[in-house]
Amino acid sequence: MTPMPRLYFDNAATSSPKPQAVIDAMVDYATRLGGSPGRGSYFEAREAARLVRRCRERINDLVNGEDPDHIIFTLNTSDALNLAIRGVVLGVLESDPRATAHIVTTELDHNSVLRPLNALIERHPGRLAQTRVPADPATGRVDPDDIRRAVGARSDTVLVALNHASNVTGVIQPAAEVGAVCRAQGVLFLLDAAQSLGHLPVDVRALGADLLAFPGHKGLLGPSGTGGLSIRPGVELRLATVREGGTGSQSDLDVQPETMPDKYEPGSVNAMGLIGLSEGVQFLNEFRFAGLVGIAALRAHEVALMHELLSTLGFIPTPSPPGGGLGRGTPALARESGSIPGLTLHGPLDPSRRVGVFTFSIDGLDPHEAAAILESEFGVLARAGIHCAPLAHRALGSTGALRLSLGPFLTVDDVRHAAGALRELAASTRVYS
Ligand SMILES: Cc1ncc(COP(=O)(O)O)c(C=O)c1O
Repeated sequence: MTPMPRLYFDNAATSSPKPQAVIDAMVDYATRLGGSPGRGSYFEAREAARLVRRCRERINDLVNGEDPDHIIFTLNTSDALNLAIRGVVLGVLESDPRATAHIVTTELDHNSVLRPLNALIERHPGRLAQTRVPADPATGRVDPDDIRRAVGARSDTVLVALNHASNVTGVIQPAAEVGAVCRAQGVLFLLDAAQSLGHLPVDVRALGADLLAFPGHKGLLGPSGTGGLSIRPGVELRLATVREGGTGSQSDLDVQPETMPDKYEPGSVNAMGLIGLSEGVQFLNEFRFAGLVGIAALRAHEVALMHELLSTLGFIPTPSPPGGGLGRGTPALARESGSIPGLTLHGPLDPSRRVGVFTFSIDGLDPHEAAAILESEFGVLARAGIHCAPLAHRALGSTGALRLSLGPFLTVDDVRHAAGALRELAASTRVYS
C-alpha cells in the first residue's frame, strides 16, 4: 500500500517547504555569525549587516525599487500595512489639529487593512473617513473608474489601498490603472502584495505604487516573522513613524533619525530571518520552468498547475499545454460550477486572470469538516474559513469556504491527487446528504 502523502496546499497563508538554501543560510548565521547587524564593528556584526543589506538589495531589485534603503523590514504584511496606513493617517492628523483625512479601500481587503483603519477611525472620531469600493460581482475586479470617483468625492482623500491579488478569489486587480488614477489625483497608492509578490511580476514604478506591503514568508519563501514595506523615495516625508527606538546610528539624538531605513526600523532586526529570506529571493531569481527563469518561470509554473486543477475538475475544457502556456481562457466569472455536481468555485476560470488560490464550496458540507476529511483521508492540507477577508466572502454570498493554494514545490501529480480528492469528497457528500 502506498503511504498517504502530506501535500501542503496552504501556501497563501505561508509557504512550505522552504528552499534548502534558506535553511542553510539561517543555520550558518546562527552557528558561524550570531552578531547583530549594524550594532558592532567586529567581523560577525559586519558580516551579518552585509547579508541583511544583500536581502534589501535583492528585494529592491525584484520590485524595481529606486533605493534599497527604502525597503523597510517588518514582521509580516500586516505589520507593513499598519506602518503604511497609520503612518499616512497620523502624518496628516498630527500635522494640524483641524486636519481630516479620507481613505479609499475595497471590499476585497484583508483584515490587516480593514482593522488598522477601523481602529484609527474609532480613535479619531470625525477626523477620518473611508469609502469602500465594491468589486464587480461578475469579474471580481475593482473598476478604476469607481476608485477615481471615490477619490474625487472628497478633497481630503490621502490614500488608496488596493489588494493586488485576492486571497479569496485569486483575482488579479488592475493595479497599474489604479496607480495611474492615484498619480493623476495626487493621492498615495498602497498596494497589498501579500498574494502577488513572488507569484507575479511586481514593479513598483510601473504600477505607481508609493507603498508596497509584502510578506517575506509567503511567495518570497522566507521564514515566518519576515515582511516589508517598500516606500517610494520622498513618501517618507509624509509617513509618520509608528514605533521609535534604538537604531545603532546617530545615538546621541533623542528623537528617531530621519535617515532610511533606520527611521522605520527601531530595535534589532530579525537577522536570522532576513538572511534566510535573502536566499528565498535568490531561489526565485534562479527558478526555472518551461525555458523561463525567475518570476516569469514561477508564474508559468503556477498557471500550468492552476490549469491542471481547473481542467481536471471539469471547469475548463483543455488540459494544460506542455510548458505551462495559458491555454484557452473562458470569461472570468466570480462563481463557477464545473462538471462535478455540488462543487462551486469562487473565482475566475481563466488562469491568466488569477493567482494560484483555488477557493471552493461543496454543497451540504461544512468547510471545516471538509478540511478535516481532506487531511485525514487524502493527505491534502487545505484551509477552511473566511480567510481573514469577511467582506470578500460576504460579496460572494459565502459564509466560509475551502481554499487550496499553490506553491513552487507542488507538481502536476500533486494537483491531480488533490483534484481526485475533491471529486471523491463531493461525490460522497451527495450520497450521504
Ligand atoms: C491579501 C492579504 N493581505 C494581508 C495578509 C496578511 O499577511 P501576513 O500574514 O504576512 O501578515 C494576507 C495573509 O494571508 C493576505 O492574504
